[in-house]
Order: sequence, then structure tokens, then C-alpha cells
Amino acid sequence: MDVLGIDIGGSGIKGAPVDIQAGRLTRERLRIPTPHPAKPEPVAQVVRQIAEHFAWEGPVGITFPGVVTGGVIRTAANLHHSWIGAKTGELRHGATVINDADAAGLAEATFGAARDKSGTVIVLTFGTGIGSAVFVDGVLVPNTELGHLEIRGKDAEHRASDRAREDHDLSWDKWAERVEEYLKHVEMLFSPALFVIGGGVSKKADKFLPHITLDTPIVPATLQNEAGIIGAALTAARSG
Ligand code: BGC
Repeated sequence: MDVLGIDIGGSGIKGAPVDIQAGRLTRERLRIPTPHPAKPEPVAQVVRQIAEHFAWEGPVGITFPGVVTGGVIRTAANLHHSWIGAKTGELRHGATVINDADAAGLAEATFGAARDKSGTVIVLTFGTGIGSAVFVDGVLVPNTELGHLEIRGKDAEHRASDRAREDHDLSWDKWAERVEEYLKHVEMLFSPALFVIGGGVSKKADKFLPHITLDTPIVPATLQNEAGIIGAALTAARSG
């Protein structure tokens, strides 16, 4: 079965039909820059544009970069604050909406680097923010928001996201120091069996992972930038 997956990020909104048995895109993905200000109506308009591009009438799964519970958006750290309290149906009527990192984590747990891993596995996405997906024996604990842990008195994602690397013009090894400090904190809290590093930086893992030393094994995500789209589609298929 094919499901349209749409991944809403702070800088781009990406979508493609997904073969949810195989865990892969069946058409080339479409990326449209996130409108600014990223208020509900302009973002929903881009979601419509993506569905129209693929002439889509089937099920749709959408990721959102904030807490999503009970069909309501609860937080929106990197999109416009007017999202807070919005119903997920405002994105698209009938679509399934899930936190972006949880979606990426589900895709990695089903098809990628976290597949068949038992114990506590933590998938972290480094992009505009830091997203987290925590699994215990393959079961997701949703909306964990570990990117907002406080490190040196600051929100961790303001120090160690990929955007922070760009904004502060950090070299890869300087940025890796910040990521390591952050991961050590998460390691202390959860004693995970595995860390999986996702988001746009996962394809450049060779630039920073060698600079990171932890007790916990750490691997790059294998689905990279497509994990959110695949996880969104998977969630819609499972809930439909
Ligand atoms: C949001 C999370 C999201 C992460 C990655 C954070 O700022 O609070 O919900 O998963 O960014 O987009």
C-alpha cells in the first residue's frame, strides 16, 4: 500500500508517496521551503500543494515539529506560536499527525538503524532543533522532547542543533564537543543500549561521529532525510 508522507520542518516541507511495506519512496520527493511566518494557514497551503502535486486522494501522514497529543498541537518551538492549541485537522482533514522525531524514529525502528534492537534505544534528530524518539524494546514513548533539556543554562537545541552549528559558525569538531556533552547528559538519564543520530547531519556522520566518545554505541540513521516522510506514512497506515 502507498501512503503520502509529509514532513514539516523549520526550513522545508517535504513529501512523497511511500510504499509502507518496503519502507521506501515510490516517487521523487517534493520539497517546498517552509513559509515565514510559519502560521497554520500558509503551512496547510503547502501541505495541499504537495498533495496536489502527487494528485493524491489516499491516506496521508504528516509530521509536525512539536508535541502532538489527542489531535492537538501542544508546542511549536520552531514554527509560529499560533500553532499551539491548533487541531491537527487544520493541516489536512483526516490526516494522521505525529511528532517529527517520533516519525523518524519509527521509520528507523522499522526499516533502519534501530530495527530489531531491544532495550532503550534513543533516536535523536539534529536539524533546526533537536528531536527525540525513545523506544523501549521497540515500543515508542512519544513526545519525549529531549532537545529541550537544559545544558549550561540553555536549551540544548540552541547549543547543539545543526542550526546552532551553522549560526555560530562552528567547525565540525567544535560542534561535536557540544553534541558529546549533550549526549552524555542523555546517557546519564537513560543508560540507553543505542543512540541513532538522524536529521540532515546523518549523511555527514563521518565529519563528527569520530570526535564523539561515549559509553553507549552510537550509529548514524540509515534512512537519513527520508525517515520523517516514511515514518509519517507508516503511522497513517497503522492508524487507518
Ligand atoms: C521540538 C520537537 C521537535 C524537534 C525537531 C524541537 O524544537 O520541540 O517537537 O521534534 O524540535 O524538529
